Amino acid sequence: MNIKIISLLPGAFEPILNSSMLLKAQTLNLFSYELIDLRQYGIGSRHQVDDTPYGGGDGMLLKPEPIIRAIEAAKQNNEDALTILPTPRGKIYKQSEAKHLASLNKNLIIVCPRYEGYDERITAWIDQSYCIGNYVLTGGELPALIIIDSVVRLIPGVLGGAQSAEIESFQSDDITKEFPQYTRPEEFKGMKVPEVLLSGHHGQIQAWRKANQID
Ligand code: ADE
Repeated sequence: MNIKIISLLPGAFEPILNSSMLLKAQTLNLFSYELIDLRQYGIGSRHQVDDTPYGGGDGMLLKPEPIIRAIEAAKQNNEDALTILPTPRGKIYKQSEAKHLASLNKNLIIVCPRYEGYDERITAWIDQSYCIGNYVLTGGELPALIIIDSVVRLIPGVLGGAQSAEIESFQSDDITKEFPQYTRPEEFKGMKVPEVLLSGHHGQIQAWRKANQID
């Protein structure tokens, strides 16, 4: 899967995308990404990307022309790619959406808005808008990283055990969440690992985990 990210802050992505599982996914050729600096598609010598809203109001809106030019560039030889817009006005993003995106076998183009918003006409170029939670962020970069992380880890071969993603919590949207886990030492500052986890009793351990799932 290739993911192109259109952003005014392209430098914000590399530390996360080039670490841990997302790095491993790249080295296994399961995932690649490309950063597209929206500023390069800005208008005039000052590379303008935003303007004041018609009808008045505070703040600046992202203009349509730079974003559409960037999307069209990202679509070159990549026509099938799904364009995604993180926005508080989008569909609530859940595990089921991550699974859906991972199963499509399509490349993604994620457009990250900044400032106070964007010209509504850009949505004609967007296949899916997502809201990652009921709060407002300053831009689409963090939602884009959340979407990428949650999708790439579901690509077969990215996580260690073939089933790691399957057995984890939040597998479907409405049910089981994670159970508490422990590693060495057996006792830390007076706090002991629950006895049952040391017992080697698979059945009892399963029952304890089920009973201790958080909901
Ligand atoms: N941009 C700003 N806030 C957002 C949110 N909660 N979800 C997606 N995109 C956003």
